[in-house]
Amino acid sequence: MVFRRIQVVGALAATSYVAAQSFVSDPLIDKVVPYTAIPYQVDTHTADRGPQSGYNICNSTTEGQTSMCQTAFVNHLDDFCLWAPPKPASTIGDTEGEEVAWCTKPGKGTRLIPKGALKGVQLVQSPGYIQIAGFIDQTMVNIADGDYGGELDSGGQDGRGNPIGGLMYTNGFPSNNGKNDTFQQSRHWTLFIGGDTFCVKVCDDTQPNAAHLCEHIYDRIGCAYNAPNDAQEGVFERCLGEDMTPVGVYTSNGQTLTWTQPPESLGPITSIPYTPTPAASSSCVTFASDDLYGQLSAVTPAAGNPKSSTSATATTGHAGATGASAAHAKPTVSSAAGQNATTASTTNGAAALAASFIASACGVLFSIMLFA
Ligand SMILES: *[C@@H]1O[C@H](CO)[C@@H](O)[C@H](O)[C@H]1NC(C)=O
Ligand SMILES: *[C@@H]1O[C@H](CO)[C@@H](O)[C@H](O)[C@H]1NC(C)=O
Ligand SMILES: *[C@@H]1O[C@H](CO)[C@@H](O)[C@H](O)[C@H]1NC(C)=O
Repeated sequence: MVFRRIQVVGALAATSYVAAQSFVSDPLIDKVVPYTAIPYQVDTHTADRGPQSGYNICNSTTEGQTSMCQTAFVNHLDDFCLWAPPKPASTIGDTEGEEVAWCTKPGKGTRLIPKGALKGVQLVQSPGYIQIAGFIDQTMVNIADGDYGGELDSGGQDGRGNPIGGLMYTNGFPSNNGKNDTFQQSRHWTLFIGGDTFCVKVCDDTQPNAAHLCEHIYDRIGCAYNAPNDAQEGVFERCLGEDMTPVGVYTSNGQTLTWTQPPESLGPITSIPYTPTPAASSSCVTFASDDLYGQLSAVTPAAGNPKSSTSATATTGHAGATGASAAHAKPTVSSAAGQNATTASTTNGAAALAASFIASACGVLFSIMLFA
């Protein structure tokens, strides 16, 4: 059983979740739900964390910026969804069970990501998964300014998923043969968002290693480790790639070893024995943002998402390394999202910073200024 909670940034995070919840006998990750047979709510439990907050049948009547749709898609660079809060200025840690789908295209009965929110996105398609990492103005999708966020996935502390009952589909796996009108469920997926970065990965359950390629027990070490990537601010690209080495697996002195995230009861993560690098990628093609997300032009962000004009201070450490990190995608999305650790120190802006966490990382927990 996995009793896990999202760790948001450092100190904040931890307090929001309490006692271990009972683990359900019908975990979300085991629920095979064909796209053509989606129930109103896939989660039927009412105890502990309460009932599913939204619904899975989403259509033209649910579409719009108040949608509570909890069925999401990761299809293509121009066609994907993120999980984010239903109400303005929320932290991921406080709302992990209730996130709703925010998508780049209308037609799915969801909210739309406001125009201009996506600041750089990289999609990598590997044999085992589709991974999308990028930079986002998270206040435009109701995430509190400065929140380092955390992990959302089909596991969860009680097996009900975060969000509870969240379903994920794609038409982008090879088995779909390029058709866009049929969708395959992904039961193994992870999404980190916060620190103005994100990374989402949907693994192909028909491939041999879906559970490990979309491992969901490393919720405190962010995008840098869970979805190593080369996303850059201002760049929108799609690439082919090899499968990543599963999170936690590394080589030292010729031996393959596995590092496991320590429980929170042992305190902050102060060191991780390896630095992740993105798996080899190729055939990258870049696009103009407007060519990808033109349909978002009419969408304006909700009021009530104040943005601080000052810099945000992260206290956790490296994005990659500590909880926050999930979010911390920021850097190059390194942590949170996915960074290009190697470029970190040379690039500008947030991206660069992120990266630098990672690069230096790993050893010590330290405070970082996110936005210089
Ligand atoms: C549209 O979605 C809503 C919310 O899930 C559902 O109640 C309604 O029955 C759906 N309508 C159709 C025609 O499927
Ligand atoms: C499927 O959608 C993608 C982008 O969303 C597009 O590039 C591709 O041409 C579409 N495929 C078909 C067969 O329509
Ligand atoms: C990653 O960093 C390396 C080294 O600076 C650079 O050559 C490469 O272009 C970067 N890739 C991306 C996608 O930023």
